Amino acid sequence: MSGTVTQWQTPGRVADTWNRPLRDLRISVIDRCNYRCPYCMPADIYGEGYEFLPRRHWLTAGEIKRVAGLFMQLGVTKIRITGGEPLLRRDVIEIVGSLSSLPGLQDLALTTNGSRLAAQAQELRNAGLKRITVSLDSLDERVFRTMNGDRGGVAQVLEGIDEAQRAGLAPIKLNVVIQKGKNEHTALDLLEHFRGTGIIVRFIEYMDVGTLNGWRMDEVVTSKTLLERISARWPLTPVKPNYRGEVARRYAFEDGQGEVGFISSVSEPFCGDCHRARLSADGTVYTCLFAKLGTSLREPLRAGASDADLIGLLQSTWRGRTDRYSERRGREGQPREARVEMYRMGG
Ligand code: GTP
Ligand code: 5AD
Ligand code: SF4
Ligand code: SF4
Repeated sequence: MSGTVTQWQTPGRVADTWNRPLRDLRISVIDRCNYRCPYCMPADIYGEGYEFLPRRHWLTAGEIKRVAGLFMQLGVTKIRITGGEPLLRRDVIEIVGSLSSLPGLQDLALTTNGSRLAAQAQELRNAGLKRITVSLDSLDERVFRTMNGDRGGVAQVLEGIDEAQRAGLAPIKLNVVIQKGKNEHTALDLLEHFRGTGIIVRFIEYMDVGTLNGWRMDEVVTSKTLLERISARWPLTPVKPNYRGEVARRYAFEDGQGEVGFISSVSEPFCGDCHRARLSADGTVYTCLFAKLGTSLREPLRAGASDADLIGLLQSTWRGRTDRYSERRGREGQPREARVEMYRMGG
């Protein structure tokens, strides 16, 4: 091969059609959730009779470990466990334990809605989890319940965050999805509560993930708007990313009370540095959060494929990757085609 040999062209590493390496793996371990956030799983669609993935299709803890190990051979150094709500999976501690034992893994995190965190935080830490991200859209009980389909209160989540802090799952980050007219008026109160605690609040622009949330651009509060409101109260200074391709833009409070992040996938897409692959609970690999289709690993895995076969499949999937959805949406508007729902492929 001619040309400069970059780090990810060394044996085993892969780059996609835009020369983006594969670094992060997000593993959804379950497609079910005890909340019904209207922007993710609207209750009128995901009612009592809704059929989620059959359990026999879930990759087992052993299968997840094997697949994660193969991804690591292709350059993955960071793994995030997601759902649905991952703490609803009964063997989540076993999954964390087996992933944390993978040699060379630099970061192991988990994203949860926090409702079941209090009881499990210490066990997660003992199993090798490094850090945790908790979704919390408002501290106002009424607003919070509107944001989660009235399936749980703020107190449980705050208790979960306290236990996670006590267990040493650090740094704790909070994901706050902001929707115009719904919770935007409680954003500053939430920030006031967590400023100075070491817990990092990140505001996420409401996104058109999936096709069932009825997303409209006019329900998005851009990060720029929010940043202006926040800095009018507490002056902020931009801070360098922690690593290349970090999704959140970081700002420090000038009074030394910590930092706040903005995830602006709608107004400022970050596809250019996107190094993330997603593995759904049923073993499908997706190369974009907005994908229509994925590549099933479960079938070859259960038909006895060798590691070399599976690595070949992953390599060809990543090498063929062309995704830049958020950038395209920015230029061409929202496409009509169906997309896989976020709770299924993992946030
Ligand atoms: P750190 O590892 O702590 O930097 O976290 P992260 O930036 O990976 O954050 P997290 O996994 O909590 O992601 C936060 C949110 O950002 C997700 O829930 C999504 O809403 C959004 N997000 C993450 N990755 C992508 C992505 O690849 N594309 C888009 N459009 N949004 C993403
Ligand atoms: N837009 C933005 N963020 C979303 N999340 C789920 N659905 C959306 C959406 N439509 C966030 C959740 C959680 C993370 C996993 O993804 O709030 O923090
Ligand atoms: Fe559940 Fe998270 Fe989706 Fe809300 S956003 S319904 S907590 S998976
Ligand atoms: Fe990556 Fe797709 Fe998100 Fe762009 S839209 S950052 S390609 S996951």
